[in-house]
Amino acid sequence: MSSVSFAPLVPFQPDNSVSAAAAYTVPIALGDRSYPIHIGAGAVADARAWANLPKAQTALIVTNTTVGPLYAAALQDAIAGVYERVHVIALPDGEAYKDWLHLQRIFDVLLENQADRKTVLFALGGGVIGDMTGFAAACYMRGVPFVQVPTTLLSQVDSSVGGKTAVNHPAGKNMIGAFYQPERVVCDLNALATLPPREVSAGLAEVIKYGPIADLSFLDWLERNMDELRNGHTGLLAQAVKRSCEIKAWVVSQDERESGIRAILNFGHTFGHAIEAGLGFGTWLHGEAVGCGMVMAAHLSERLGLIDAAMVARLTAIISRAGLPVKGPQLNDPSGLSNADAYLSHMRVDKKAQAGDIRFVLIEAGGSAKIGVAEDALVREVIEACCDG
Ligand code: NAD
Ligand code: GLY
Repeated sequence: MSSVSFAPLVPFQPDNSVSAAAAYTVPIALGDRSYPIHIGAGAVADARAWANLPKAQTALIVTNTTVGPLYAAALQDAIAGVYERVHVIALPDGEAYKDWLHLQRIFDVLLENQADRKTVLFALGGGVIGDMTGFAAACYMRGVPFVQVPTTLLSQVDSSVGGKTAVNHPAGKNMIGAFYQPERVVCDLNALATLPPREVSAGLAEVIKYGPIADLSFLDWLERNMDELRNGHTGLLAQAVKRSCEIKAWVVSQDERESGIRAILNFGHTFGHAIEAGLGFGTWLHGEAVGCGMVMAAHLSERLGLIDAAMVARLTAIISRAGLPVKGPQLNDPSGLSNADAYLSHMRVDKKAQAGDIRFVLIEAGGSAKIGVAEDALVREVIEACCDG
């Protein structure tokens, strides 16, 4: 089992004023690829978020058919003074369209409009749009700047930050992609008001994740404030987004390309990936699968002697309070594999797997995490203990 050592993280300091108007900027330090994450209610209409945008004649806003009608006009207004031409493409909504075919539609629009290599792409939407737009920016003319304008909680606290971009392949999720950092991230908390409650819960899974892997004081704070966060309290959401981005920035700035510590951000994702793939992508939301996957990964960590039963119970309780499932589904495999073997077979195609060995993010007492392996027999026991039926 390999251990990952950490530089210290500045402790969480909740802002007791919890003003709905609070605005924060979190820096992410990556040398010449460093950028700011602007967070606030009304951030898209706030000129401070748009100072010093990359100069170009053309910008393309990539969005989808749900988010575009709600928020594209406001973003167009915000950047109209900087770019002579601002085009918009609205892709169909859904993980099913995060594929090569729809990536090509972004390139089609860019080429139809003779977009040059200075053109700036703006990703307006959740993680699907952010991942696709980032990958399009990485590829178009060998790389153009892009800006993330995330509109789901999940994308504000996780996917818009850190430069992982991708599309899915029928054989696996996010299998085709690149590390490519945005020029900035602008998180407008007002966008969360139109988010369906199920999507808020899915985003909270990625927020909760940061507690056990890096900061138990943040987990304490989430326990105190979970009900109001679910109810959309803007001042508390601002702090949750800020702290999540701080922790993600702290991890990514140490390991941009995931050769070590960055893998801890995948806590719960190995089991979660099996749930998503085994049920068919889109049946459970990514955050739902991650929430349940964290419960399973906590049980595995306990069986390996890294945490006690009280910590497993604590995590299970907060994940449940966030409105997320805590029991894994049965994966009915057409080839007749048992439930546990179906999980294991999906986990072996996880990007963290090496030479067929599944690698898990395991949590430790005190709020840290490490990468480890476990015997199949132990993993089977965890799956059987944690699944319905
Ligand atoms: P999503 O992009 O599918 O958005 C969820 C739903 O909410 C969609 O129907 C979307 O149209 C809708 N929506 C978005 N903003 C809205 C708003 N403000 N109001 C109303 N509806 C709104 O899903 P997601 O959870 O944001 O992201 C999941 C994706 O992110 C997955 O593809 C996952 O692989 C990826 N991801 C990437 C990273 C990374 O580091 N790059 C990290 C985590 C997840
Ligand atoms: N969402 C995991 C990562 O960005 O590494």
